[in-house]
Amino acid sequence: MKLILLGPPGAGKGTQAKMLTEKFNIPQISTGDILRAAVKDGTAMGLKAKAFMDAGGLVPDEVVVGIVRDRLLEADCDNGFILDGFPRTVAQADALQVSLQTMGKELDRVISLDVDAEALVERLTGRRTCKVCGRGYHVKFDPPGKAGICDACGGDLFQRDDDREETIRKRLQVYADQTAPLISYYRDAGALMELDGMQPIPQVQEKMLSLLQAN
Ligand code: AP5
Ligand code: MG
Ligand code: ZN
Repeated sequence: MKLILLGPPGAGKGTQAKMLTEKFNIPQISTGDILRAAVKDGTAMGLKAKAFMDAGGLVPDEVVVGIVRDRLLEADCDNGFILDGFPRTVAQADALQVSLQTMGKELDRVISLDVDAEALVERLTGRRTCKVCGRGYHVKFDPPGKAGICDACGGDLFQRDDDREETIRKRLQVYADQTAPLISYYRDAGALMELDGMQPIPQVQEKMLSLLQAN
């Protein structure tokens, strides 16, 4: 299964991708996670990306296109992958097509998660993530058993630097301007499936699985 999860910040791409990786045994490729790891490690790429990310803008296309191209060549992608947060511009989508063609691969599905703007702000301001294993939580919608501690591994939970309300609003605007056009891009390509992302996490997952297994 070669899948793109498309949707605004906070739509639930990461949450759903983590469940799908277990179900289908294919990797989640989150450009956001890869970039945050590079920032944390202080690599040249991380240093370049940080200012864009802190401002809620997009990292330049050539940087992320290179990251994804290299990642798709790794052996664990042979049976499929879930792209989470990539592509985010038409130029990235075009570059992905070229990379896949070169590898003799083709996308199976693009699932677009649709969520209201105000719900997105509430999801992002309440998001917490495990420092150790990366599992995501929400203080209200998906709280850990013990506040601030990961159920899965006992690690501390943290709040992302870009999950402040002002930066969130900027990210939503950037999504509307630069990423939303990909909905019609993939609709025109006949690959798009649209999913109502407003329901609770388990229901969204159920619907997603039935879409993926339908045909
Ligand atoms: P990235 O990390 O991709 O952030 P994003 O797109 O803003 O998306 P999020 O991770 O915020 O949202 P999500 O949809 O994964 O939501 P989640 O599942 O966590 O990118 C960060 C930055 O990196 C970008 O701003 C940019 O600078 C750079 N970048 C990354 N990729 C790039 C690219 N391709 N090109 C250029 N720059 C790039 O859910 C959110 C919260 O809601 C959680 O707390 C969760 O528990 C909760 N939740 C999830 N589903 C539900 C539900 N159904 N009901 C209630 N709560 C829910
Ligand atoms: Mg995410
Ligand atoms: Zn953990």
